[in-house]
Amino acid sequence: MNQETINNIKQSVGSIVDPDLQRTFSELKAVHDITLTDASCDIYIELIPPLHWIAETIENEIKSKVKAIVPDVEVTIHVREKQVNRNGNNNVLTNVTNLIAVASGKGGVGKSTVAANLASALMLQGAKVGLLDADIYGPSAPTMFGLQGATMQAEKTEDGRILGTPNKQYGIEIASIGFVMQRDQAAILRGPMLAGYFKTLVDQILWSDLDFLIFDLPPGTGDIQLTLTQQIPLTGAVIVTTPQEIALADVRRSIAMFRKVQVDILGVVENMSYFIPPDAPEKKYHIFGKGGGSIVANESGVPLLGELPINLAVRSGGDDGLPAVLNPDTDFNVVETIKQIAANVVKETRIVNARRSETPVIQITL
Ligand SMILES: Nc1ncnc2c1ncn2[C@@H]1O[C@H](COP(=O)(O)OP(=O)(O)OP(=O)(O)O)[C@@H](O)[C@H]1O
Ligand SMILES: [Mg+2]
Repeated sequence: MNQETINNIKQSVGSIVDPDLQRTFSELKAVHDITLTDASCDIYIELIPPLHWIAETIENEIKSKVKAIVPDVEVTIHVREKQVNRNGNNNVLTNVTNLIAVASGKGGVGKSTVAANLASALMLQGAKVGLLDADIYGPSAPTMFGLQGATMQAEKTEDGRILGTPNKQYGIEIASIGFVMQRDQAAILRGPMLAGYFKTLVDQILWSDLDFLIFDLPPGTGDIQLTLTQQIPLTGAVIVTTPQEIALADVRRSIAMFRKVQVDILGVVENMSYFIPPDAPEKKYHIFGKGGGSIVANESGVPLLGELPINLAVRSGGDDGLPAVLNPDTDFNVVETIKQIAANVVKETRIVNARRSETPVIQITL
């Protein structure tokens, strides 16, 4: 086999378009190495993470391109995730690739519900996922994942630090102040102390190597939110809103806060968008109004990641400890909506990561 064949393969694979980034593999410098013998072709690809949603499609596409040129050889594809520059502080949570905050200026709009289902949908796709319930006043992860009464295992390191091990449920690693403190205890904490507790949660938990760590934030734009956005190298934020005008002012404030501290907004999830009665599926009621999510997404120039209906399984899942997307009894359309929201989050994460991988790390020499 000659160099010309290798060049042909390189060119053909280089013409594949990354479905999320809408750029060719050549433009992305994704094709690294190709080795070819009479019997086999090994092709080494490096792509922007995370890859779970696209890996299979891309591998099939590469295989068919190679087979079109050398039909009789065994093709092996080696796909590696490209290293991306982090947004800020490089010393914390170094074993987590993508750190995503789920936030809203407003309370009760479904942040925890979206965070729990997003984490679950990412896990279903094969990603290694953790969820940090950062709502110190009203932790909800223990209830939402059926872990009431669970405590966190802790160990003391040689230098005297206490490190906690997250609990694991449905294959997701979960940490919450609810595992170390009673609800009424947490409720009496005030501003700076809360921020201190939050920092402890972030610094002293032994996560595995994760593709995603989802932060379920308490409502508002106060101390905790600021601590998080300043101390953690967030990949981006998912903003949750309900459709009505009254929710939007808080959401705008939340978007402004993240922008001020240079955290990318991955997009807006509109929750409680509509209600379809189970006994009258031809009807659709917009109980909390219509269109707020797309208004706020448009005016902020960010994508609308999805519209999640008001749904019994979503509500009861939160109370019964089984996120709706994991429950086989949940309506197909609701499950698909949640999975699509997760796929859109992954796409936007890849877009942010692609941009970061191209920003040169600036070395300052004094
Ligand atoms: N799409 C939905 N359909 C039905 N019920 C929902 C939906 N989204 C959220 N809920 C319910 O609404 C309540 C509030 O949701 P959730 O706790 O997720 O909100 P939150 O924004 O995290 O609240 P907080 O500001 O207190 O942290 C919960 O009982 C939850 O089960
Ligand atoms: Mg919450």
